[in-house]
Amino acid sequence: MDILRRQFLTHVGQTSPSPLLVEVERAEGVFFYTPEGKRYYDLVAGVSVSNVGHANPAVVRAVQEQAARYMHIMVYGEMIESPQVRYASLLASRLPAGLQSVYFLNSGSEAVEGALKLAKRVTGRREIISFRRAYHGSTHGSLSVMGDPEGREWKEAFLPLLPETRAIRFNRFEDLALITERTACVLVEPVQGEAGVRLPAEGFLKALRDRCNETGALLIFDEIQTGFGRTGALFALQKYGVEPDILCVAKAFGGGMPLGGFISSTERMGQLAHDPALGHITTFGGHPVCCAAGLAAFEYLLENDLAAQAEWKGALYEELLSGHPLVREIRRVGLLLAVELGDSEKLYRIMKLFREEGILSDWFLFCDTAFRISPPLTISEEEIRESASILLHCLDRLR
Ligand SMILES: Cc1ncc(COP(=O)(O)O)c(C=O)c1O
Repeated sequence: MDILRRQFLTHVGQTSPSPLLVEVERAEGVFFYTPEGKRYYDLVAGVSVSNVGHANPAVVRAVQEQAARYMHIMVYGEMIESPQVRYASLLASRLPAGLQSVYFLNSGSEAVEGALKLAKRVTGRREIISFRRAYHGSTHGSLSVMGDPEGREWKEAFLPLLPETRAIRFNRFEDLALITERTACVLVEPVQGEAGVRLPAEGFLKALRDRCNETGALLIFDEIQTGFGRTGALFALQKYGVEPDILCVAKAFGGGMPLGGFISSTERMGQLAHDPALGHITTFGGHPVCCAAGLAAFEYLLENDLAAQAEWKGALYEELLSGHPLVREIRRVGLLLAVELGDSEKLYRIMKLFREEGILSDWFLFCDTAFRISPPLTISEEEIRESASILLHCLDRLR
């Protein structure tokens, strides 16, 4: 084993006994390259982070210019920093009237934490409802709302977590009756990502919105994975025509830099500034370089209409792969696909073949029988056709 690998395994905190151990030299567009010059199709895009492609020149320029102008000056919320203000304003212009104030943070988990606190503060209630097979992050609060019972193995060692949380079943209309006047908020991924791309049943999100209105519970959408064009709309809330009270964003929000946020009405958000003042604070949240990168990526996404492209690009993958005898089912929204093999042992073997053939894919936290296709939204038709033919070749090798 070379020295860098040994140092990586010894000195860099690890997440699993079997990391991929592929060294990255550089990345561009939909590809990354190892020091030996091996090219990989990036069909994960950092789990829906790199929507505008790696080393997008507009994003690189924005980072360089902002880094040279100023980086960190003072904790969040005290100074007027134009990258934050410009980004929040542009985002607000693309969101409904009830989502006009952005609280910037560093990650998705933090966005979820902030949203849960805001909901408790606004309603004065304590109960939090989420869904089975939901993934919202790895901190204590966000882990508490990971869907039972599937999340049990991740939770058990870290108990106790937040009290008064409850997970109901996604797409089961009868479970909505469990939302009551005691409920502070309901947290939902409009399309469940780590459950293996589970789409909402017709009318489910609308029924959820209605039940929240009836009971006074706030509705929180976690669009950390589905936001910024991935579903074929700018946000899934637009695709499904349902407006949440709070929206969580991260991943593609920073254009490749660490950035998260929760978004709500200016009136609601204002309540974090009193009783107590400093109700939610952060040092680095909304870092000017991250906001400059995110803003450049968002402008690029809008100018090139990448959200609309996600739909036909995803449909093309679906068409190219769906005839293969080993493919049981393809679940898809926009350019986020779960290719179901129905067998975890086969999935494990095909991941190895993908790596040999220069493809980076991944399984899902709560679904180890399907592989993920979520490349940068900038992928070209030719690249889709070439990567799909490599995937088909690997499927053939598996038979
Ligand atoms: C839907 C969803 N919510 C929250 C998170 C947590 O985000 P982060 O890893 O930035 O804390 C993720 C990460 O995969 C996610 O997919």
